[in-house]
Amino acid sequence: MKIMTKKQHFYHIITFGCQMNKNDSERMESILQSMDLKSTEMPENADIIIMNSCSVRETAERRVYGKSRNFLELKKKNPNLIVCVTGCMPGRDKKGGLKKRLHGVDLYFPTRDMVMLPKWLSELNPNLRPIDLEKDYLTVVPRTKNKAQTFLTIQTGCNHFCTYCVVPHARGTEGNRSLKSILDEARDLASQGCLEITLLGQIVNHYIASDPEFFSKTNPYKKNDFAKLLWELNQIEGVERIHWTAPHPMYMDDEVIDALTLPKQINFIHLPVQSGNSEILEKMNRRHDREFYLETIKKIRAKKPDIAIGTDIIVGFCGETEEKFQDTVTLFKECDFDISYNAKYSERSGTVAAKAFTDDISKEEKKRRWFVLQDLMVDIAYKKNQVYVGKQVSVLVDTYKNNTCGGNSSEMKRVNFPGKKENLGTIVSVKINRAAEWILWGDML
Ligand code: 5AD
Ligand code: SF4
Repeated sequence: MKIMTKKQHFYHIITFGCQMNKNDSERMESILQSMDLKSTEMPENADIIIMNSCSVRETAERRVYGKSRNFLELKKKNPNLIVCVTGCMPGRDKKGGLKKRLHGVDLYFPTRDMVMLPKWLSELNPNLRPIDLEKDYLTVVPRTKNKAQTFLTIQTGCNHFCTYCVVPHARGTEGNRSLKSILDEARDLASQGCLEITLLGQIVNHYIASDPEFFSKTNPYKKNDFAKLLWELNQIEGVERIHWTAPHPMYMDDEVIDALTLPKQINFIHLPVQSGNSEILEKMNRRHDREFYLETIKKIRAKKPDIAIGTDIIVGFCGETEEKFQDTVTLFKECDFDISYNAKYSERSGTVAAKAFTDDISKEEKKRRWFVLQDLMVDIAYKKNQVYVGKQVSVLVDTYKNNTCGGNSSEMKRVNFPGKKENLGTIVSVKINRAAEWILWGDML
């Protein structure tokens, strides 16, 4: 008798952009694995390819167009291949202009519609097994490869409408998850061995709980739900490190700043500034000025003097003269940032900036300013990292190769040291003996 074996189907996911997208891709992995599909690193072996797209800058969208052409080519050899695009591009593409440039793609859907994947995929390929899912995509438990470090999305969308930013258009207005669902997920993660949780939200420190009755009576914070949430997460046994991104300076009130001293809080904060010039900040609709940002950094350092600080900066925004750019340079020096994600302004259709302002800084000048900041950042990072030489840092080990372990310190500095495979997924103490701009070397204690 001939035994029929079912063909194993494979998926390949490629993720562009931010950590929120990475977390969403983990949810899609979870859905696909529930449908008995297996992951493959090789797109040519896949039955389903999903591109989780980013729209923040034009270059990110261009990469999706390029990749999709390559993937659609694969259909010639494998006509059953299903190519999908999700993420911010379908999210912001209200008029379908972007979709036209992705001609041939089989499924094109905003992130929240990922719960429809089983139905749509099984319609396209009847050999695939549909499964039932709840309507809210946030209820899909992300499939994480690394159990020790996980993302936890607490908020979706954004109401802030910074004039340059496509996120509110692509991901909708702010929605906060219930406190109970966040705490349940965090406890679950802890019970599965999670040591580090990274909370995700577009303005993570504007988190508002719809069910505040789940805050403990003993919670010391009274005003800010995000500070309260941080305290609750600090009480969960097993979790060792709490990280969050990205906060907005406006909501860095005294309670959130105080929460930086909670025992499990990592020794790092990423606080986007975007520009050091108050007029540009106003034009960006950031709703704070240069002085407010500097004051906030001062307050943070007063509470936690050795905290590492990161930021996001856009150079060459509409109307940014050389003098205004120099305000960013001086702010950068004053803040002594450990790291900065510097971006050249990229006009995004649909945003207020695209409608109301002129993208008047040339490509070359944006590039020049970008290099000025990159050079400054490298100098400062090198100088700041020398302080760690001779000191001890705690490292959550996430890589191992050729007897060398790597991981992030609590300051989110990359650390390498001689170690064993067993160190993977554990937190170890490392004494630093050498430091470069982006890496510290040391020996395990
Ligand atoms: N052009 C360049 N950079 C941008 N960012 C957001 N929108 C744009 C844009 N239109 C940057 C901001 C933000 C980060 C996620 O991306 O610095 O903080
Ligand atoms: Fe975009 Fe501003 Fe919202 Fe951040 S706060 S996601 S930059 S609109």
